[in-house]
Amino acid sequence: MEDLRNKYLELISNAADEGALEELRVQAVGKKGEISLKMRELGKMTPEERQVVGPALNALKNEINSALAAKKAALADAALEERLKTEWLDVTLPARARRQGSIHPISQVTEEVTAIFADMGFAVAEGPQIETDWYNFDALNIPGHHPARAEMDTFYTHRAEGDNRPPHVLRTHTSPVQIRSMEKTGAPIRIICPGRVYRADYDQTHTPMFHQVEGLAIDKDISMANLKWVLEEFFSAFFGTHVETRFRASHFPFTEPSAEVDIQCSWEGGQVKVGEGNDWLEVLGSGMVHPKVLQAGGIDPNEYQGFAFGIGIDRLAMLKYGIPDLRAFFDSDLRWLRHYGFASLDQPTLHGGLSR
Ligand code: PHE
Repeated sequence: MEDLRNKYLELISNAADEGALEELRVQAVGKKGEISLKMRELGKMTPEERQVVGPALNALKNEINSALAAKKAALADAALEERLKTEWLDVTLPARARRQGSIHPISQVTEEVTAIFADMGFAVAEGPQIETDWYNFDALNIPGHHPARAEMDTFYTHRAEGDNRPPHVLRTHTSPVQIRSMEKTGAPIRIICPGRVYRADYDQTHTPMFHQVEGLAIDKDISMANLKWVLEEFFSAFFGTHVETRFRASHFPFTEPSAEVDIQCSWEGGQVKVGEGNDWLEVLGSGMVHPKVLQAGGIDPNEYQGFAFGIGIDRLAMLKYGIPDLRAFFDSDLRWLRHYGFASLDQPTLHGGLSR
């Protein structure tokens, strides 16, 4: 019996895994195991023998069972130990850099502009960036021979071979949305239209794609005085300080009379500051909507009149945030965004030009 005990305790302690342990259990204390067979022999023994051998076999069986259980637990511990060694995590490693997006200054300024005009009751209207030449020119009283067409450095699309209709254009200004809005809702109208416009032009202050916001107010008694009030209200809100405006007589085919509007500013050390000083900076074109334009939009010029204006959004952003080069807006390196204080998307700071 002592041999049996030594044999199994040794085998158990050397078992490599749970499978081997199970085999040993069957072999020793299973139904047909060595110890079970021995127990079956008890019946053939004398009562005296049985009294000695019986308890000894039982004790052996218990000892083997607890050795099996202990070894099983030890194997499980070892396996866990192994796993912990391979699955460790170094929490002292520095975190991986996360890429952070940020709101583009043009988007932010567009939001700011929209919010200010919304406070004055202007809704947002939109139109396509690829326009017919009728909406972009003719309906705005710019006929085919008009020099304004040539001046605008228009991008034209191609027509298929043999298609003699006039080509579509990339809209050169947001003014075509005036006509689209008139057609859509009729008078009265109070809208702004922010959006992309295109002209073949590229230098420090011109990019082939830029942004304008068109304004249009039409009713029975809208006057130039309303225009002046709305613009001064807008500029003061946008720049966060009272801004004087200066109206200069000008010419646009789609307004009569027309005015270019300057805002008060100062130049110091090449830096422009709006709302102070004795200099003037041209920021937009405007005027009273030409009767022919009202007619083109299906509005009776004898009953209604209104004002329109077009402001360059990119220029507004440059002025407000002191950005010197317009091309920076479309540069792929966005570090300059942080330089000018534009917040990442994690901390949005919404709501806080010339027309060319
Ligand atoms: N569309 C003109 C431009 O881009 C600006 C403008 C808009 C002028 C509305 C008058 C009225 O230059």
